[in-house]
Amino acid sequence: MRNRRVILTTRPTDIPQPEHFTLDECEVPDLGDGELLIRNRFLSVDPAQRGWALAEANYSTPVALGTAMRALAVGEVIASRDPEFRVGQHLYGWFDWQAYCICRADAVLRRVDRSAVPLSANASLLGINGLAAFIGLTRFGRPEPGEWVLVSTAAGSVGSFVGQFAHRLGARPVGLTSSRAKAKRCLERYAYEHVALYNEAGWAEELGQFAPEGMNVFFDSAGGEILDAGIRHMARHGRVVQCGTASIQAWSPPPQGPRHEREVLARRLQWGGFVIFDHVREFETAARTLIDWHHRGDLVIDEDISIGLETAPDSIAGLYRGENLGKRLIQLD
Ligand SMILES: NC(=O)c1ccc[n+]([C@@H]2O[C@H](COP(=O)([O-])OP(=O)(O)OC[C@H]3O[C@@H](n4cnc5c(N)ncnc54)[C@H](OP(=O)(O)O)[C@@H]3O)[C@@H](O)[C@H]2O)c1
Repeated sequence: MRNRRVILTTRPTDIPQPEHFTLDECEVPDLGDGELLIRNRFLSVDPAQRGWALAEANYSTPVALGTAMRALAVGEVIASRDPEFRVGQHLYGWFDWQAYCICRADAVLRRVDRSAVPLSANASLLGINGLAAFIGLTRFGRPEPGEWVLVSTAAGSVGSFVGQFAHRLGARPVGLTSSRAKAKRCLERYAYEHVALYNEAGWAEELGQFAPEGMNVFFDSAGGEILDAGIRHMARHGRVVQCGTASIQAWSPPPQGPRHEREVLARRLQWGGFVIFDHVREFETAARTLIDWHHRGDLVIDEDISIGLETAPDSIAGLYRGENLGKRLIQLD
């Protein structure tokens, strides 16, 4: 059996581009004891892959050059030498950008229930995006009914869910995005009450006019100037949830900006980061709630699906160009 893989061949210093990857083919080796052979069906494309490809470790070790690009995926077990897994079962886990993956149980994040949601949604609503939105909002943002929740990258995968979940919890989501077309989606599909365009002058003042009492929660995945402005519109005792840093181009040299200690102190803010992989034990409980919400019929799950491994090398850069509408996935035959 032949495998096809997207290999990280050169190390990016910033956002990975097509020239950092090559496609190769190799034999699938025989399975050892305790191993699974997975046929990937949907590969996940995540902004976090930028950090995983860089030379500096952040919360994970850098992807080794010459290996398949680290990625989450949904796949089907087609051979198993682990009695805990059976052929035909679908799984979500660390199966990388390749057609087939040989792995052990520790690569599996969730077992897929085929009757619960469409297969691809296991890498969107029930993948790290929906789970980060749910766990980040409920555990760290903790919005009360009627409170304002400011959300950056509002039209992206995590943001599309944060808006809907905040609304479902009785809070009032306000989004930040880059274009009028995306703002329209946020208002019409993701339950946002108001959306500001962060690349237009005066957006921060607009927030102040819309909600003069200030934001109670800031679910921020952008960092940089968006965070700088947002933090100055927080209400007293607000919670800033640092989910991502999409606007930061490079970490070396360290980006410079205003200092926030005074704002944090005077506004009595709680500002904390979280990494979804610290919460794997909460995934099943969170997923059950999300499946229940999905079955009630009013959750929008938008996915931006391209076909074939050939689309992978440019797909992370595309996220940073803001071209995706919904969760970016790659479907394999
Ligand atoms: N903490 C965790 O455990 C965790 C888990 C999952 C995801 N995340 C983070 O959550 C964020 C969203 O992830 P996602 O998978 O849902 O991706 P996504 O939002 O679907 O795609 C990334 C979005 O980032 C925005 N963006 C790109 N460059 C930007 C810039 N310079 N300034 C502001 N926004 C920019 C773009 O939207 P616009 O066109 O609106 O700018 C783009 O669509 C990322 O930062 C990711 O790293 C964190």
